[in-house]
Amino acid sequence: MRSCDLAELLLTELHRADSPQQKAPLNRRLYHTLRGTILAGKLTAGTRLPSTRDLARDLDLSRNTVMSAIGQLAAEGYLTAQQGSGTFVSAALPDQRPLTPARAAAPQRNPRNLSRRGSLLTRSSGAERLEVQPFAPGSADYSEFPIQLWHKLQAKYWRTLDRDLLDYGQRGGHMPLRSAIAHYLTLSRSVRVTPEQVFITAGTQQAIDLAARLLTDHGDMAWVENPCYWGARAALLAAGLRLHAVAVDAEGIAPLPTDWQAAPRLIYVTPSHQYPLGHVMSLQRRRALLEFAARRRCWIFEDDYDSEFRYGGRPYASLQGLDEDAQVLYSGTFSKVMYPGIRLGYLVVPVDLVDAFDRGLYDLYRPGQLMLQAALTDFINEGHFNTLIRRLRVAYQARRDELSRRIQQTLGARVRISGQDSGLHLCLLFEGSDAAVDDEIVAAQLAVHGISVRPLSRYYVDGPARRGLIVAYAYVPTERVAPWAKRLCELLLQALP
Ligand SMILES: Cc1ncc(COP(=O)(O)O)c(C=O)c1O
Repeated sequence: MRSCDLAELLLTELHRADSPQQKAPLNRRLYHTLRGTILAGKLTAGTRLPSTRDLARDLDLSRNTVMSAIGQLAAEGYLTAQQGSGTFVSAALPDQRPLTPARAAAPQRNPRNLSRRGSLLTRSSGAERLEVQPFAPGSADYSEFPIQLWHKLQAKYWRTLDRDLLDYGQRGGHMPLRSAIAHYLTLSRSVRVTPEQVFITAGTQQAIDLAARLLTDHGDMAWVENPCYWGARAALLAAGLRLHAVAVDAEGIAPLPTDWQAAPRLIYVTPSHQYPLGHVMSLQRRRALLEFAARRRCWIFEDDYDSEFRYGGRPYASLQGLDEDAQVLYSGTFSKVMYPGIRLGYLVVPVDLVDAFDRGLYDLYRPGQLMLQAALTDFINEGHFNTLIRRLRVAYQARRDELSRRIQQTLGARVRISGQDSGLHLCLLFEGSDAAVDDEIVAAQLAVHGISVRPLSRYYVDGPARRGLIVAYAYVPTERVAPWAKRLCELLLQALP
């Protein structure tokens, strides 16, 4: 498509006086206009977009503005970048529901029916469609996952149909799975746990939601790490909590004297691998946090989301394992070792909360998926879970090594790599004179070239944000890490002034 034709298509909408985006920055306005044009079918699948330079000229905008909008659309899957041939409208759009002509023609307005909570939640800048976001495009890599075996284990339960497994999941989930998890956590994470304390949830997200609903009231204060996992932030905000952002340093959450003064009701932390910076909380900090929580009667929510993947450095046991006062709720997930869509995770609660969580889980969510839980029990008890962890650890470590070697070779002291001893991503911190570079723009520029990374600044809840990029390497097939890492570094060299 010619640049002037597209510009003509966009210009009227871009400058509409009654547009709800009128007060938004230009890159957001352009993003919304382009997205609306695609969803309305005015730009069809496969249409090649003009170059950002031409479009910037014809729209009379800066090239950064255009790159930022196009990069965001590429990151969300509306556009696809093909190296050397340009950027195209994707064949499969993330919003599968096409706009009807009436819907397309109606002026967009702010959603009128959202509650204050809903508006707050949808404004949360971290919320993104893509949870699994490999740094290069293409679908995430699950080649190590034993699909045949997983299918066989599930098929067995459907063959020998035990009708109880078709019911709602009562009393915290399938008991054999709760036992298997308790056994696994005792051995591998030093969690102090009996099977009755384990609740099967639809992932960490539901565990945070459940804990917030049962242990806090609307308007209570919750501490979150700054920067913080956006999923936790969203769940806590939705529960009506006031978020108090506490700084993080190389030893994990680092409260200032002023922070210690006002006790929160709940503290959300990622001690094994701070998300997203990747620091491990030191023993001293763990003790200080536990002591504070005991004295001021706060709950601690420990999100242990990726501790299966430790590649080096000293492993730390869970925070829950150090807790003498039964104030830590410990959560883990099967999203990382199995696959995110499995929607199974677990929450370990103190003994005196077991009955309340039993009722809360059932009444709020009517859990189910017992067949899946039964298959997962066999997967763990027959040793496949541990085998898979070992296999993934080797594969992911190789991917991490390749990526970090390339970054160090090409970018040297211009960036610092943080948090690479474990997990599925690493954090690139812009250093020296690059420390002030706008990471949103850099991420958008990379997205135009088909590289999906997230700007670090977006994870900050409050105050000045450190600039950098979150690069998720684990889901990139091993053989593609080297070429994509090379491309990432070349583009970064261009993007950093
Ligand atoms: C910090 C953190 N906690 C938890 C999760 C997993 O959440 P869930 O179990 O809801 O998939 C993620 C996923 O990316 C995460 O980054």
